[in-house]
Amino acid sequence: MMIKVGALLTFLLILVTASQAQQRPALITNIEGRHTMDLNGRWQTIIDQYETGYYDYRYQPSTDGYFKNAKPKSPSDLIEYDFDASEQLNVPGDWNSQDQRLLFYEGTVWYKKSFDYQKKDRTRLFVYFGAANYLADVYLNGQKLGRHEGGFTPFNFEITNLVREKDNFLIVKVDNKRRRDAVPTLNTDWWNYGGLTRDVNLVEVPDTFIEDYFLQLKKGSTNEIAGWVKLNGAAGSKVVTVEIPEANVKQTVTTDANGYAPVSFKARLNLWSPENPKLYSVKVSTDVDSVGDRIGFRSIETRGTDILLNGKPIFLRGICIHEESPLRGGRAFSKDDARMLLTWAKELGSNFVRLAHYPHNEHMTRLADEMGIMVWSEIPVYWTVLWDNPDTFVNAKNQLDENITRDKNKASVILWSVANETPVSEARLKFLRGLVDHARSLDPTRLLTAANERHYADPNTQLIDDPLGEYLDVLGCNEYVGWYDGLPEKADRLQWKINYNKPLIISEFGGDALFGNHGDKGVRWTEEYQKNLYEHQLAMLKKIPSLRGMTPWILTDFRSPRRPLPRIQDFYNRKGLISSRGERKQAFYTLQNFYRGLIKEGK
Ligand code: GCU
Repeated sequence: MMIKVGALLTFLLILVTASQAQQRPALITNIEGRHTMDLNGRWQTIIDQYETGYYDYRYQPSTDGYFKNAKPKSPSDLIEYDFDASEQLNVPGDWNSQDQRLLFYEGTVWYKKSFDYQKKDRTRLFVYFGAANYLADVYLNGQKLGRHEGGFTPFNFEITNLVREKDNFLIVKVDNKRRRDAVPTLNTDWWNYGGLTRDVNLVEVPDTFIEDYFLQLKKGSTNEIAGWVKLNGAAGSKVVTVEIPEANVKQTVTTDANGYAPVSFKARLNLWSPENPKLYSVKVSTDVDSVGDRIGFRSIETRGTDILLNGKPIFLRGICIHEESPLRGGRAFSKDDARMLLTWAKELGSNFVRLAHYPHNEHMTRLADEMGIMVWSEIPVYWTVLWDNPDTFVNAKNQLDENITRDKNKASVILWSVANETPVSEARLKFLRGLVDHARSLDPTRLLTAANERHYADPNTQLIDDPLGEYLDVLGCNEYVGWYDGLPEKADRLQWKINYNKPLIISEFGGDALFGNHGDKGVRWTEEYQKNLYEHQLAMLKKIPSLRGMTPWILTDFRSPRRPLPRIQDFYNRKGLISSRGERKQAFYTLQNFYRGLIKEGK
């Protein structure tokens, strides 16, 4: 009984702090469709491992920190930093791959960008960050705008009343130190790239502007669009027009006092699919604001163990991808990076990618829309986060919220994933159910999943019975038979038992191989071993009746601090099918042939 009361109190505490977090600044969506000025380029930076620019020597937050961008007023003045004389880094970009001294650096780096701005009447100004890893404290002209936690989702702050005509200085303290209570937590198998890793833009909008909108097909429909529009600004109640000229759609709605209005109307649409990635030009406008977008419309559902795209069963021929620029190294951030990664995935025969283990930049999902590649989008609730910590839950929920807010109009995104390889427990189940419920409340149109684990019912039977499966639409399962679990041939004798009548995606399998390292197929780290592993895996997996997709681990080798083996790993996870220099390994062609076979079968 006492335990039940304790658990209830914890959960209530989670809810309370969750509501407090709701006060986050509203997130503006579809920056590409807005009037923006980018602040990308060279930023002055100060490496501040001891956070001297933030805390005083008593480790109390200082009121006179580096965010003041102070300058000596007289020769006797004591100022111990000077942004304008400091080194520079590129934004967007992580600091680790730009400066060899910072490759392993985890701590604080201060960024400063100066800019002038021509103020306009009845115009508001926001500063928008595509992402900053991990904890960002943002200041303009010495004033604190706010803090954002989470390294892979966008955030913005209004600066209308703070910006001036000349010499504005925008200062961001970015801290990528890992913390036990954070999301992700201390331990991950990817490089902890720090910095202003994505585009930074000034966004100009009218006094009352179109903050956000949701326009997708109603669940289960292929001709009814349902959603909403949300205005931001004093004049809440306004007429909003939604136009899709190509589909002869011109709908007007009137918002309530909070600037919100539901939208629903019928339309004859050419549905989005990998074979036909049709995107419509959509315009949302009021008398003072107008936002243009390109949106695809498709329905995605499950029926028993089938996944239905536009009402037809599909098979997801996928691959996992980390957000790392293949040849340049470092965090991927540009449209070219995205195009290279997705083009390589297409070359494999993929119609689906799992963007692991965190939301990738918006260029990836926009390009997936254009290229007709379906997307599994995930937040970094990875391995063992602090399930009982209310702040950890709120943090994860915020990241989910920001991810869904940014990409909810992307036809390519079909699955929201709330976790990867998390240990079964009551607290974990409550935590992840909270995230699943939140995702469903924000987006009733997409499927919910997670990359879970399986265990052995007996030495030859792998069992999927994770209690979280109950609350998901699609089961994800990571397994490493042939690498961490026995040798590749073990797959030949294994059965699968799945306790849910739901579609299954094998969200990870694979093994390491160093490109160009050759030998007998029984020798680890050789291309022959990896190829052999894939052959036995694919033979095993295609026997699973409810298998509806797979995303082998992984498209390219990627940096990881957990992989020190000299002359083989050298701090790279070598499970890529493509090396970090873009070379295709033998297993690349094994999977490509397998996918070509499925395509021939119409899958
Ligand atoms: C895990 C994990 C990945 C990791 C991979 C590996 O399953 O989800 O992030 O890189 O296995 O060990 O290579």
